Amino acid sequence: MADFSVDCLNRYFSDSGMFSVFTHSTRRVVTCRSHLGIQGAYAARKACYSDGMKFNEGPLQLYKSHLERKVLKPDDSQLKVVCNLQSLFERLKDYDSQKQSSNQLLTPQGLYLYGGVGSGKTMLMDIFYDSIQVPNKKRVHFYSFMLQLYSAINRWNLCCPSDELTFDTTPVESIASELAGEAWLLCFDEMQLADFASTRLLEGVFRKMLENGTVIVTTSNRSPNELGASSFGREREALDSLTSLVALLTERCELVAMNSESDYRTNQKRGKDNYFTPLTKHTEKVFDEAFCEAVGRGRRLTSVSLPVYGRKVIVPIASENGIARFTFNELCRSPLGPADYITICNAFHTVFLEDIPQMSIYQKNEARRFLSFVDAAYESKVQLFCTAASSPDELFQLIPSDDPLQEDKMHMEMMGEMAYDLELTQLELSSLGILTGEEEIFSFKRCISRLKEMQSELYQCQKHRLQAFSPYLGSFEERLQSENRRREREHKRRMKMLEASGDGSEALRELPLTPLTTGSSDWADEASY
Ligand SMILES: Nc1ncnc2c1ncn2[C@@H]1O[C@H](COP(=O)(O)OP(=O)(O)OP(=O)(O)O)[C@@H](O)[C@H]1O
Ligand SMILES: [Mg+2]
Repeated sequence: MADFSVDCLNRYFSDSGMFSVFTHSTRRVVTCRSHLGIQGAYAARKACYSDGMKFNEGPLQLYKSHLERKVLKPDDSQLKVVCNLQSLFERLKDYDSQKQSSNQLLTPQGLYLYGGVGSGKTMLMDIFYDSIQVPNKKRVHFYSFMLQLYSAINRWNLCCPSDELTFDTTPVESIASELAGEAWLLCFDEMQLADFASTRLLEGVFRKMLENGTVIVTTSNRSPNELGASSFGREREALDSLTSLVALLTERCELVAMNSESDYRTNQKRGKDNYFTPLTKHTEKVFDEAFCEAVGRGRRLTSVSLPVYGRKVIVPIASENGIARFTFNELCRSPLGPADYITICNAFHTVFLEDIPQMSIYQKNEARRFLSFVDAAYESKVQLFCTAASSPDELFQLIPSDDPLQEDKMHMEMMGEMAYDLELTQLELSSLGILTGEEEIFSFKRCISRLKEMQSELYQCQKHRLQAFSPYLGSFEERLQSENRRREREHKRRMKMLEASGDGSEALRELPLTPLTTGSSDWADEASY
């Protein structure tokens, strides 16, 4: 179809004789909407996203039914993307990964969808995911996928039999093959490359999965070439992994840009007040009242600790009906990471967070933790109540203003900070491209957009959604054996280095082995995910 207008789409559907399916379905869902108001509208959307209707004709049909029922507003950029997803749907109809896994060329190309925040990428990916009815499909979010990978590495380190280990064995192959065996279609939300370690891991796992016939459909705020733009130093190894992953995605996925300027989160109908600003006695009082109302009369408040890997995350105030309360300092100035935030958001359906300050580049760490928490809360559909120094739009002072001089100043400050972090003694002009902080700016925009959506009626009637996260820690025995194997491996590695250097350096032989924690997972203490 050359013309992507809604009228043209209508013609397409009546010509293909599918209209009766819509009419029938529409009647059913519209009835549900008119009786149940906003709750019903959400139920209707969920019903469309999941079961209850026949979607054998693919994402185009499902998207069209949303437009007809006015669940979605017409958007030509989205329609274009849906047509790309429809072609992918057709390509995958007869795809049998088992037969074709031996020949990579026969694996259909997946799709990489990129564009601005709130433009509907995840929503379209979910429509595609729901419309394709194969058992071997998996939908994951970046954070929980990385957590699963790190957990799988830990399991491999603890459980892999000694005779399979040589000094250069890595777990990537076995983990990727296992994942490819579970699902040949991977819908991966929010591709981002935050650091070298996860990029390298993702590159290895994706490469192997693609070799095994996996089709990847992913969304991102950045085109593949812009991925990791500001997160990498100039180390060759880091840039090699990044280049290699970008090449892999570009080759194995059709690149589709969502050219929409709309952020659909900004104009949604407001729900209950849950974002109180600025920080005054009055907002504090209203916030406390909202907390008391949510907890309910006579319920006990306690402090609880949640186990994450081998450590404990303290929730200072928690109620028995699933509500937690933190100050910004407790949640974002303590050394917590995505694993902790996902655990908190799995354990509590509502979080009260007070005293969110405005954040400048000097609170970079706090800002990143806050982003990570908001991402976890949004994914789990946690109800967030907060008091903040300003509206979401003004929380992050890192986004360059429209004033070009101010923008330059901001960039220079940010570059200086990053150069310091990366221990670059001299700031090279050639490295400016990787030091612009653009990656962060997208994350902040996403966070602002999500904080706004969390105030909407539609978000507030969504159900708490648990994210898969169950790290494998192993028994004491397994940890002990794993430590012995690690020592053995390191010994072999050293011997090989000695042989290669040929100088018989005794110093190397005598170096103490890297100390590792015993009794708890060595990996857990270091994992940032
Ligand atoms: N055409 C539309 N009409 C009405 N609402 C829409 C439309 N498209 C998207 N939305 C709604 O806008 C919100 C944001 O959409 P979505 O999460 O898919 O954006 P996104 O592009 O993935 O954003 P991000 O880059 O932040 O991940 C969702 O609640 C979604 O249902
Ligand atoms: Mg998204």
